[in-house]
Amino acid sequence: MKETKVDDVRIIDLPKIKDSRGNLSVIENNTIPFDIKRVYYLYDVPSDAYRGGHAHKKLVQFLIPLSGSFDVILKDSIKTKSVTLNKPNKGLLITSGVWRELENFSSGAVCLVLASEVYDEDDYIREYKAFKNYKGL
Ligand code: TYD
Repeated sequence: MKETKVDDVRIIDLPKIKDSRGNLSVIENNTIPFDIKRVYYLYDVPSDAYRGGHAHKKLVQFLIPLSGSFDVILKDSIKTKSVTLNKPNKGLLITSGVWRELENFSSGAVCLVLASEVYDEDDYIREYKAFKNYKGL
């Protein structure tokens, strides 16, 4: 959506079931506000790599740092915000219409992505200039 803002992006706390054998977190249908159509994950990411660098017209995503940490830089037409993801029981809900960049991956970091749509290159805005245009700037 064209009107969405950086402030629409939010952390969702996942349940953490602790016992002496370790922790367990769970995501069910009603944990996130969309039906999951696709799951992918980023791993073996070099510490100087930069991922993302795009926005989506329709797609909504939920990012979970299954292991390690990384930073997500979010931009709308006005505001920029940086969020560090480093807890496997805290995920980031990224609405459509928000530019995102992922960087500063720690060694062994794994980013799980739950997506509301199947892969569709036409849903991507990969040029920042085109993104600003899309946002009406
Ligand atoms: P890209 O969108 O550049 O990844 P990121 O946003 O994490 O930096 O995708 C890298 C490549 O993988 C690109 O050629 C498209 C392809 N790809 C798929 O085929 N299916 C998918 O679900 C995703 C996310 C990417």
